[in-house]
Amino acid sequence: MSAKLEVPAVVMPKRERIVAPPCAVVVFGASGDLTRRKLMPALYNLSVGTHLDDRFSMVGVARRPWGHDAFVEQMQGGVQEFSRTPFDAKLWEWWGPRLDYVSGDFNSPDTYKRLALCLADLDAKHGTSGNRLFYLAVPPDEFAAILQGLRDAGLIVAPGAATFSRVIVEKPFGSSLETAKQLNGLVAEVLDESQTFRIDHYLGKETVQNIMVFRFANSMFEPLWNRKYVDHVQITAAETVGVGTRGKFYESTGVLRDIVQNHLLEVLSLCAMEPPNTGHADDVRGEKLKVLKALRQPWSDTVPNDVVLGQYNGYRTEPDIAPQSNTPTFAAMRVFIDNWRWQGVPFYLRAGKRMAKRVTEVSFHMQPIPLQLFGSADLCEHVEPNVLTLRIQPEEGIQLEFSSKVPGHDFTVGPVVMDMKYTEAFGGEPPEAYERLLLDAMRGDATLFSRRDAVETSWAWIQPILDYVEQHPQKDFPNYEQGSWGPAAADSLIHSDRRQWRNR
Ligand code: BG6
Repeated sequence: MSAKLEVPAVVMPKRERIVAPPCAVVVFGASGDLTRRKLMPALYNLSVGTHLDDRFSMVGVARRPWGHDAFVEQMQGGVQEFSRTPFDAKLWEWWGPRLDYVSGDFNSPDTYKRLALCLADLDAKHGTSGNRLFYLAVPPDEFAAILQGLRDAGLIVAPGAATFSRVIVEKPFGSSLETAKQLNGLVAEVLDESQTFRIDHYLGKETVQNIMVFRFANSMFEPLWNRKYVDHVQITAAETVGVGTRGKFYESTGVLRDIVQNHLLEVLSLCAMEPPNTGHADDVRGEKLKVLKALRQPWSDTVPNDVVLGQYNGYRTEPDIAPQSNTPTFAAMRVFIDNWRWQGVPFYLRAGKRMAKRVTEVSFHMQPIPLQLFGSADLCEHVEPNVLTLRIQPEEGIQLEFSSKVPGHDFTVGPVVMDMKYTEAFGGEPPEAYERLLLDAMRGDATLFSRRDAVETSWAWIQPILDYVEQHPQKDFPNYEQGSWGPAAADSLIHSDRRQWRNR
């Protein structure tokens, strides 16, 4: 049985239109997939929403020997194929003169000289005022050359100057605690932390941002948000896709580095953090950091008990994958947060590729009722504890499962669901994560970006698991079928606590 929540006509508060300051966005790796699929469509949609100032330009930098027209054509193709709003030829006329391209080797000083000239020219033509947002959409081994090239060409101004220079760094931020520290050290040689924007696109998702709003703009849930009322929490990021064309990257990354260390820990810390003093970047990020610091450290003797890894059948024959690959494409784990609020409450994390369903969600499973008052003694077994689910994607929304009297002359109790869907409540598709994150970076708001200390703390937490996995290669890979919910051992992990995964 399912009761549907009627969403009342919402009276939306008047909102201020957010417009980026004048600036040039410079994308390194502009001939790559990320630019075409995500960055260009995101910038385009910001212009559709009139969030870009007229004094704006975008410069692509890459090795490919394209000229201006070829670059414009490529970007147009990206918008036509991937934009969430339809391509508008009239609006594209605004874009044409605001796009430019610099072809060159990232190791050559000449590339940065030409880039500096190009930017000066765009400043003069479009009034971009010397403000620059650099986007490093390249593998981490290219970061050093680019940052040094920018610095040596005088393209990075110190914070507090009349103009701004900011840099967005794409994940992965390293592949271990050591490499993450090295990378952060390298970035810090050129940039102040206030100029560094480490992007985790999960934080740009509307539903992930709503975790904070749901918790701290409503008074009724927060009192329940602790060990006294919550039995356990499940965080699932299941994908139906496999590794596709990213085999080479994925082989050295695997699910632990690709999803758990960043996306899942970001979501976990938003769900578990204390209320920050204000909504400002450092207050929010400070509270999230405390959660990461309170994560119970895995040890070599706890990992086999608390972590299950999997690899889907067929992974080893995908392009660029080793025939004997030991890379996990699935992970499930039991995690504890050793602080006052969450002591003893297990957080079960799960992520995987080629799973039964695409679903990312967090569910809070509340304590069972202490005493059955209605129906027969048997019925007691059927009263399900309340479950509150924050549905990150798809079918973005929030669900509350609770028990209700089933109409009739007895006291039969049955489960019902209150279901809030974003599309019904607010209409239309929410903006893409990259739109919000690019806009925030242009405005200098780092709330939704990862801070250095958090990145290093999350690596420090996961490192013992990575070490264990490296020292104990899995003998049973591949161990789950495509289209399933992962290996049987993942079920055993949660069943051993007399609980079960929420596979909906
Ligand atoms: C990326 C991972 O960070 O996130 C991918 O590298 C994964 O492997 C993707 O598919 C999932 O993001 P989304 O937004 O599609 O859920």
